[in-house]
Amino acid sequence: TEETLVLVKPDGVARGLTGAILARIEAKGYSLVDIRLVEPDRETLERHYAEHEGKPFYEPLLDFMMSGPSVAIRLAGNRVIEGFRSLAGTTDPTTAAPGTIRGDLGRDWGLKVQQNLVHGSDSPESAARELDIWF
Ligand code: GTP
Ligand code: MG
Repeated sequence: TEETLVLVKPDGVARGLTGAILARIEAKGYSLVDIRLVEPDRETLERHYAEHEGKPFYEPLLDFMMSGPSVAIRLAGNRVIEGFRSLAGTTDPTTAAPGTIRGDLGRDWGLKVQQNLVHGSDSPESAARELDIWF
């Protein structure tokens, strides 16, 4: 089996979509191993988003991620890393496929792709690193 880090980001929590997102994850069949509501500090987010440091959206992204609580989930199952990213849909919620979390529940609220509801680790190395940061 495999584990991944899923975040319901501040926009998802603020819009009351945590339950709807969890329902999709559970319906798909993945296992919740751990779950917590987190208000990350800047240092935590700098570690999480280290690969994006210096990009134009980096500072706004950190501010957005500190704008309210996120729900962090340790999720398990065979091929859960690619499986959750498939459930989430592509980064831009405006064009993410219908049927995905971002495609069905997300849209552009003025900042293009920043408010895209969820995060999912993109590789086993990222998952191990990110789970260590959030749990
Ligand atoms: P994650 O699952 O959150 O990592 O999304 P991703 O892998 O689809 O996107 P990526 O790692 O490239 O970017 C991380 C996050 O930064 C995205 O989920 C967005 O919230 C934000 N982001 C990425 N690109 C842009 C951009 O061009 N503009 C803005 N404002 N935000 C961006
Ligand atoms: Mg990413």
